[in-house]
Amino acid sequence: MSKPRVGILTGGGDVPPLNAVISAAQRAVAQRGIELIGFLKGWEGVLQNRYVSLSRIRVHDDIGGTILKSSRLNLATVPDAPQRVLDNLKRLRLRGLIVIGGEDTLSNSLLLREFPQVLISKTIDNNVGILRFSNKKVSLNHVVNYFTLGYPTAAEKISEFVSLQYGLRSTAYSHERIIVVESMGMHTGWLALASCMGNPDFIIIPEFPLDYELFKEQLALRYERNKHVIVVIAEGARWKNGGFVSADEKDKDEFGHPRFKGAASILADRLKQDLKIRFDTRNLNAVNPSYLYRSGAPSKLDSDFAQKLGTKAVGLFAEGFDESILLTIQRNNNSFKLGRYPVKELRTIEELHRFVDKTFYRENEYTATREARKYLAEIVEQIPRTEYGVNLKD
Ligand code: F6P
Repeated sequence: MSKPRVGILTGGGDVPPLNAVISAAQRAVAQRGIELIGFLKGWEGVLQNRYVSLSRIRVHDDIGGTILKSSRLNLATVPDAPQRVLDNLKRLRLRGLIVIGGEDTLSNSLLLREFPQVLISKTIDNNVGILRFSNKKVSLNHVVNYFTLGYPTAAEKISEFVSLQYGLRSTAYSHERIIVVESMGMHTGWLALASCMGNPDFIIIPEFPLDYELFKEQLALRYERNKHVIVVIAEGARWKNGGFVSADEKDKDEFGHPRFKGAASILADRLKQDLKIRFDTRNLNAVNPSYLYRSGAPSKLDSDFAQKLGTKAVGLFAEGFDESILLTIQRNNNSFKLGRYPVKELRTIEELHRFVDKTFYRENEYTATREARKYLAEIVEQIPRTEYGVNLKD
């Protein structure tokens, strides 16, 4: 009799711990006499029946990206795609499918609810989950899906990129610069918010549209006092009087998301013009680390949970699980454990879309709150503020 089979795919923007999920699943199937097949380029591979057997392929779990490659195919836009995908999965006699993706990739899963799937959320955007806070009580144990895979590594990177010890603040100091750093994150500010652990001066996120005049004044005052300033702006930031800072509303991707075109440089150019009457703004620059946020090896937390999730997903199918669920990461007192969120309760994936709220962000100061630091401290280390520099009398 042939071995039972489970499939796995990775879709959407890659993140460092994807290979760690795949290699943990490989180890788990080896122990349970299951065959693991990997679809190439996410849902595209399922639609086109392109897959590899993962029994003999070496997967390095400390290398970022995904050995299976990725795509952003929206099944809802291809005629008959959900039925064709379902037919292919059935023809392969798969017991179930492990789907590792962000909102868009997971939204394809909802089109095939009747097929058993274990969903694993990954995205540096950290936007798949729910903040179940009541008005009075903020408990980190009430965050459904505490983080998405990839967010801890990207959070560590952004906080290092802006910090004095590892990143841009030292050169900003030496050259008396204002540096505007761009974060990824699509419509949400989670990644930009994480930079607070590296102590930037200001953070601008999409959830709280930017009052440009107010911000410009605060920035100028900070520069006149300290002579170096670090600003972080999320790619999806919006102006208070309407519209994205960087995107052209008409240029959309497969899932209808705008393609952002450099919020940091647009803001830097505008500030350069408007502040030149107050001080020399030739030193006002934009930096966009872009795909570096998603590249490289996973952090320990990311890698540990990637392995737990991969092992759990295989374990569920080995035990005969035949429904669909999202595996979540839950904080329980001082540690994390895996949880489950039933997919049948979801009408659309947007029900799981998580924005930064006022618990975590001080709107008119452009900074993270103490609660945000508490939340992030579970994911990434705070880089200490160090007294540094000379005080020059003008
Ligand atoms: O969703 C993850 C993400 O990195 C976003 O933060 C970013 O806007 C997008 O992917 C970039 O997409 P692409 O890889 O298609 O350039």
